[in-house]
Amino acid sequence: MAAEFVATVFLALLALLHTVCGLKLLMLRVPSQKLRAHDVTLKCMYDLENSTLYSIQWYKDGSMFYRFVPADEPPGQMFPLPGVSVDLQHSSDSQVTLRLLDLESSGTYRCEVSSEAPKFLTEVAEAYMNIMALPKDAPKITGMRLKYNEGDPINLNCTSSPSKPVAVLTWFINGNQVDNSDISQRRIIPTGKDSKDGPFLTQYRPVVDDEGLEYVTLGLRMAAKKKFFNTLLHSMKVKCTASMGQLMWHVKHEARIQSANTASSQIPGPEKCHVWLVSVVTFFIAHKLLDS
Ligand SMILES: *[C@@H]1O[C@H](CO)[C@@H](O)[C@H](O)[C@H]1NC(C)=O
Ligand SMILES: *[C@@H]1O[C@H](CO)[C@@H](O)[C@H](O)[C@H]1NC(C)=O
Repeated sequence: MAAEFVATVFLALLALLHTVCGLKLLMLRVPSQKLRAHDVTLKCMYDLENSTLYSIQWYKDGSMFYRFVPADEPPGQMFPLPGVSVDLQHSSDSQVTLRLLDLESSGTYRCEVSSEAPKFLTEVAEAYMNIMALPKDAPKITGMRLKYNEGDPINLNCTSSPSKPVAVLTWFINGNQVDNSDISQRRIIPTGKDSKDGPFLTQYRPVVDDEGLEYVTLGLRMAAKKKFFNTLLHSMKVKCTASMGQLMWHVKHEARIQSANTASSQIPGPEKCHVWLVSVVTFFIAHKLLDS
């Protein structure tokens, strides 16, 4: 899969030190990140040189879950472990295939190769695999009112759909990102030049659901001032995006805030300027898998 960030641990250098021993572990291939519900094939490549293979053992967080011993019948055996579901048909002396990864599958995977008598050599290598869960839905924008008067407070929340790790939310006003570089827990940061009218951001603490996934809310607060509205279209567009991990997914939810007035000449004074907020004009989910 293109989005997967494969960490391949090359042990060539280490193997150089062992040339006289007759057993070299050449490569351990364990992806550093995989998606929940996906399958994975972990590979362990070695060079026996002149020795004979005794066994290959696979461990997760120190517990063995698969063993391949050529002398045994059948040679491949699995041992039950939470989060580890071995596909025996697709596991052998050089690889192990795991089906339907879940959050419990995250952990350190170790390959241990041992050679037969008379040398009884053992080589090991290990790597961490993290299981990610993508958000099922686009982030949701709440708190919209049907009508705003000039100067009224606009108080919106953007809440992400549960994921692991938790999504990073970003607000945009008319296509411009609201700066969230300094945001910390429950702090409100004025971002515009005129701090009185906002926009202000409020970062709420992530919440863990029953499945162990996390969601988070980012508040946007500002005054319904004409300066935020497009003079031609009399509208303001707010958008909230959620991204995860290495920008692996990018989901966004867009809403358009529209002024009731179509021509400024019809507005005698600011107190009569009404601002309408249309809950959802455009709604789309864009997901993009970036090549690593
Ligand atoms: C492996 O065995 C061959 C002969 O059987 C020998 O020439 C070679 O040096 C041996 N290699 C090692 C690494 O022991
Ligand atoms: C936004 O979400 C926070 C946390 O859930 C809540 O306390 C607050 O009242 C919400 N604000 C609006 C305007 O919905």
